[in-house]
Amino acid sequence: MMNHEVVEKNIWLMIPLIIVAISFGTLVELVPLFFNEEVTEPIDGLEPMPALVLEGRDIYIREGCNNCHSQMIRPFRAETERYGHYSVAGEFVYNHPFLWGSKRTGPDLARVGGRYSDDWHRLHLTDPRALVPESNMPAFPFLFQAELDGEDTAAKMTALRRVGVPYTDAQIDAAQEAVAGATEGDALIAYLQQLGTLIQSRR
Ligand code: HEC
Repeated sequence: MMNHEVVEKNIWLMIPLIIVAISFGTLVELVPLFFNEEVTEPIDGLEPMPALVLEGRDIYIREGCNNCHSQMIRPFRAETERYGHYSVAGEFVYNHPFLWGSKRTGPDLARVGGRYSDDWHRLHLTDPRALVPESNMPAFPFLFQAELDGEDTAAKMTALRRVGVPYTDAQIDAAQEAVAGATEGDALIAYLQQLGTLIQSRR
């Protein structure tokens, strides 16, 4: 009792003690995760994103899709009933940066891959209200006019390889050709169509 009062009345003692307590708690939570394969190992079948998909992801980031859409299904019934199997860490080990998010103006997209046809996405991105009259999602028709030249794709893949994404030399060499000529919209749809498809969701 006495001792605690000393700490409570001396802020210069309390500050370092708080730091020690928080640091210890953080380490206890964090360190085991570094050694837990479930969160550091890719799930079966996970491959680095193909060149066109990777460009699509960058357009997703550029257009701020992640400001309205999360990519993280939490393990609650209300979520899994609506979106499919909850997200697991091993699905994201090649993602730099993560696009989990928490803001859901629109639905979660973690398992949207394969849910709609490419044509559906093209129409929806061009004019969301043509398909969902009450939608407040912005229209992105310009994405289908802008063509990609793929000039930076190989450099992006090389940078990702440096942080552990296992791209092969062959994939990097073929990157520009795989991207050049596609529209930004094509790339974005390619990205959307592979989201979460490795784990079968219940529909
Ligand atoms: C201002 C918020 C907002 C932004 C920004 C936004 N969306 Fe949406 N999105 C929504 C809303 C709301 C819906 C639900 C209504 C609808 O389907 O249009 C939606 C629906 C969707 C759906 C259908 C999901 C499903 O399961 O039915 C897809 C796919 C989608 N958005 C992709 C995108 C992409 C890709 C971008 C970026 C280019 C984007 N959104 C940007 C709000 C947004």
